[in-house]
Amino acid sequence: MIFEQIDAGGDRNFSYLIGDEESHLCAVVDPGYDTSKLEARVKDLGLTVAYILNTHTHNDHTAGNGVFHTGAVKLAAYKDARVHPDVHLNHGDVIQVGTQRIEILFTPGHYVDAICILVNGKLMTGDTLFVGCIGGSFAQGANTENQFHSLYDVIMKLDDSVEVYPGHDYGPTPSSTIGHERVHNPFLTRSNFQEFVWLKEHWDEYKVEHGIP
Ligand SMILES: [Fe+2]
Repeated sequence: MIFEQIDAGGDRNFSYLIGDEESHLCAVVDPGYDTSKLEARVKDLGLTVAYILNTHTHNDHTAGNGVFHTGAVKLAAYKDARVHPDVHLNHGDVIQVGTQRIEILFTPGHYVDAICILVNGKLMTGDTLFVGCIGGSFAQGANTENQFHSLYDVIMKLDDSVEVYPGHDYGPTPSSTIGHERVHNPFLTRSNFQEFVWLKEHWDEYKVEHGIP
C-alpha cells in the first residue's frame, strides 16, 4: 500500500493519499485549499484517482474536491453529507481501491457527517481526534454528546497499534497511535461525560496548568 500524509494548506490541514501498487488506483482524502502537493504526488507515483473521500464537510476538508472530481472519479462521504456524494457511506461500509480495503467508521460530534477512515491499520480521524487534542463541538452541526460517544465507544475500541492520522497538524507530532492517545490525550482520559465537557470548557486553563503549548 502507498500511504502519504500531505500538507493541504489552510490551517495546517492534512490530505492523505491511499494508493494500490498493483492496480495503480488511489483514493485521495480531504483535498483542501491547496491541492498542489497532493496532485503532484498522484502524478509522480503514476496513480489514477478512483475515489475522493471526505472525513466531514467543513470547507477546509472539501475545498479541493473539484480538482479531482472528473470523469469516473467518485466522491464518497457520509450518506447525508452536504457535498452530494456519489457514494453514500454508512458505518461499516468498505470501499475497495484495487487490493486496498478502506473501512468507514461513523463518528459524528465535531460535525454531523464526520467519519473516520481505516485502511491497513491506519486511521484518518479528520477533526474528530487530533494528536493530543480533539476537534471542537460547539459550532453549528456539532454535538458534544455524540463526540464523546464517537471517541469512547468507537475510536477507543480500536487496537492500541492502530496509527492515528489527523486532519490538522495541531499536535506535538503529525501522527500518533491509539495506544499513545489513550494514555496521553487528556480528552481520552476522562472518566465520564461531565469531565469531558468540563475539559472542553476549560481547555485553555488546562493547557496553561499542564504546560501544553
Ligand atoms: Fe472541521
